[in-house]
Amino acid sequence: MSLNDSIKAVREQFRTAIEDIPNEPSKLEKIRVRFLGRKGEVAKLFATMGKIAAEERAEAGKQLNELKNELQSAFDSIVQKMGKSSKKSQADKFDYTLPGLYAPTGSIHPIESTLNEVKDIFKSIGFSVAYGPEVDDEYHNFDALNILEHHPARDMQDTFFVEDRAVLRTHTSNVQIHLMENKEPPIRYIVPGRVYRNEALSYKSFCLFHQVEGLYVDKNVSFAELKGTLDYFVRRMFGENVKIRFRPSFFPFTEPSAEIDLWNPERNQWLEILGCGMVNPKVFENVGYDPKVWHGYAFGIGIERMAMLKYKIKDIRDFYRNDVRFLEQF
Ligand code: DAH
Repeated sequence: MSLNDSIKAVREQFRTAIEDIPNEPSKLEKIRVRFLGRKGEVAKLFATMGKIAAEERAEAGKQLNELKNELQSAFDSIVQKMGKSSKKSQADKFDYTLPGLYAPTGSIHPIESTLNEVKDIFKSIGFSVAYGPEVDDEYHNFDALNILEHHPARDMQDTFFVEDRAVLRTHTSNVQIHLMENKEPPIRYIVPGRVYRNEALSYKSFCLFHQVEGLYVDKNVSFAELKGTLDYFVRRMFGENVKIRFRPSFFPFTEPSAEIDLWNPERNQWLEILGCGMVNPKVFENVGYDPKVWHGYAFGIGIERMAMLKYKIKDIRDFYRNDVRFLEQF
């Protein structure tokens, strides 16, 4: 075989050998050794140089060098491509055009945000915030508030009993007693918290709900101030033009007592949102305040009722279902 033919043959073999490389990259090194190694096909052809006539030797050397360079650079470019493609395939996994990862965040529960709003309004007019026990004795929840054992008002609130004389508080008014037992007047507090009632469930009543109690005790506290304060509060909560009604009522711990209703346009009816009144002198006596010296007003706001009006929620039970579709709206 002439040198030219041998060169052609090696070139052919090399081409066939590298055809499979993309599928079998592990063969890469074997192919390099077979063709470009020290004892490879190209080296073997160089070894035949000695047998070539002297005048043809220069030309033969030139051709062999070309072959060697050609195979080497073909081989190098395969190596380079494979390196790139393996890097590229990793890079391909990341799609820069995708929208950023969205981490779902919670939202503030409408009860919580209504509570915050109520707190902010009262804090801005000089009230401090206090908290009290949710499990309390009957004395603080009833007796000290002048709701006596056989008083019909005790039936107004169906009570959950924890054990003998301990109850889940039926209102935040129990904290009025704790505050006055522990402090000297003047006192100006609001008390947010959970309350519990064993009531028939309906769109406006649930066994658990929230109240914000208010208590202001000082030497000169008048019913006019109570009315003005609550009117101011309701208008800051619901806007200047809210339709509100101040209605005489009865609570054993206040005298006189009143309730505030808000007009609910959705239901075309009044909805009671808070009770209030002047602290009954008997309550002062129970905590050791002199009723001839001290006067006070108190109020209890129903938070769910207010949140229902504010956010147009039709059923109080929605607050407690934890349905994400409901909660997401706030
Ligand atoms: N405790 C009453 C209730 O749960 C609400 C209430 C009425 C609180 C009058 C008061 C008040 O402080 O003065 O229905």
